Amino acid sequence: FAPRHLLSIADLTPAEFATLVRNAASHKQAIKSGAIPTSLLGSMSGKTVAMMFNKRSTRTRISTEAATVQMGGHPMFLGKDDIQLGVNESLYDTSVVISSMVSCIVARVAKHSDVADLAKHSTVPVINALCDSFHPLQIIADFLTIYESFTPKAHGLSSLGLEGLKIAWIGDANNVLFDLAIGATKMGVDVAVATPTGYEIPAEMLKIIQSAGEGVPSAGKLTQTNVPEEAVKDADILVTDTWVSMGQEEEAKKRMKAFEGFQITSDLAKRGGAKEGWKFMHCLPRHPEEVSDEVFYSPRSLVFPEAENRLWAAISALEGFVVNKGKIVE
Ligand code: CP
Ligand code: NVA
Repeated sequence: FAPRHLLSIADLTPAEFATLVRNAASHKQAIKSGAIPTSLLGSMSGKTVAMMFNKRSTRTRISTEAATVQMGGHPMFLGKDDIQLGVNESLYDTSVVISSMVSCIVARVAKHSDVADLAKHSTVPVINALCDSFHPLQIIADFLTIYESFTPKAHGLSSLGLEGLKIAWIGDANNVLFDLAIGATKMGVDVAVATPTGYEIPAEMLKIIQSAGEGVPSAGKLTQTNVPEEAVKDADILVTDTWVSMGQEEEAKKRMKAFEGFQITSDLAKRGGAKEGWKFMHCLPRHPEEVSDEVFYSPRSLVFPEAENRLWAAISALEGFVVNKGKIVE
């Protein structure tokens, strides 16, 4: 039996992605009203989740640990100084050994090929907790946030009813954007990306994003520009992330200079002609250079509900990939 892994939103059909988001929404509603749904209660009882984190984390760590505990399981946090991986033991040996003792591995590594190799040799589901290419748990939470904040149209199982919305991503083309664009393509949401010259989406990633729309009747469209105002035009949601991702610290100075003029401000939204009710999102952690305080702490900002939604996304993903062994059902 080969386990099913969640390495990117690209691994999911539109119906599966929409179902993970809807399940997160319904579990959120039920649990917040005081009852853990019977389908979740104790569903992870006796199950251990090995959390292999080679990088820092606030939201991903806490949401995964809290979700596992709420479902009756045991999270085991393994930071980079806790296990032999990388220093004294190969990825292959680590993967075989850890997966022989636990029910799931949630891994935050640098290279996508590392989490892909881990998955290849693991006998239990591997969930990507952020690599240099993708961040699927973040994108389930982000679409939950969008689903809650905009009025969805009537929709079937393969959609969230968000077709026609437009996201403007202003800043660095990074891991969070790549999976966001894949999810948006599948959900019929358009994404306009503005990066400085030389920081555009790499060609091989563009292909992955475009192929996410194959067979999707009203797939979202991706456009790129080097002019922030152009991307912002008619956007419903303005999104950004740090200009210096973990592992890029040595490039910080160069990046700060290259990204000058890309800060999200009310003035940019006005100049570019964003929709009147535009909202702001950011996966966090946030730095002041990519978004002004007046936007970040304004009523337009969805950043704190978006962060909370990481918990509901983690519950939905554990249910789908661990409890239901990769069968994503309502
Ligand atoms: N958004 C996110 O993944 O945050 P952490 O790095 O704190 O987990
Ligand atoms: N792009 C950021 C996301 C952090 C959640 C990074 O990779 O550091």
